[in-house]
Amino acid sequence: METIYDLLIAEHNQMTELFQQALNDSSKVSFFKVKLKADPHMMGEEQLFYPRLEEKEELRELISHAYAEHNEAKALICEMENMDEGDEEWAVKLGELKRSIDHHIEEEESKVFDIARKTLSQQEAEKIAEEYVEFKRSYMNKIEVGEETSGVMKC
Ligand SMILES: [Fe+2]
Ligand SMILES: [Fe+2]
Repeated sequence: METIYDLLIAEHNQMTELFQQALNDSSKVSFFKVKLKADPHMMGEEQLFYPRLEEKEELRELISHAYAEHNEAKALICEMENMDEGDEEWAVKLGELKRSIDHHIEEEESKVFDIARKTLSQQEAEKIAEEYVEFKRSYMNKIEVGEETSGVMKC
């Protein structure tokens, strides 16, 4: 069965691809595709994954650092949401966001997941994956019907 690591890594890869598109065309549409992937991803990690890891002493510092990196990315996403793609700062901000997210993904995959794998049981990692799938499903439904979602969607 799939674990939370499988799901999150697959989404990291999708995000990297979407970013490539956004860098290629510099359009706001492409930026929103990145955002639509990144928002629920960060929200799901914060609601379902990080709290489980924070309980473990050896992960506490890494996780508080991860929250800070999410906040940095969210702030940049919000700034860009209020910008025009023709803005002279657009490419600069997009580059900043890309570096920030790349760095965070790298840390999650090389440090956080690594320690988590040794700390959480296989069963726990599968259970969190199930919850994450359900969370994403309901999140995407809410977006489709235009219902307001709490947290990262609002700037
Ligand atoms: Fe992630
Ligand atoms: Fe993250």
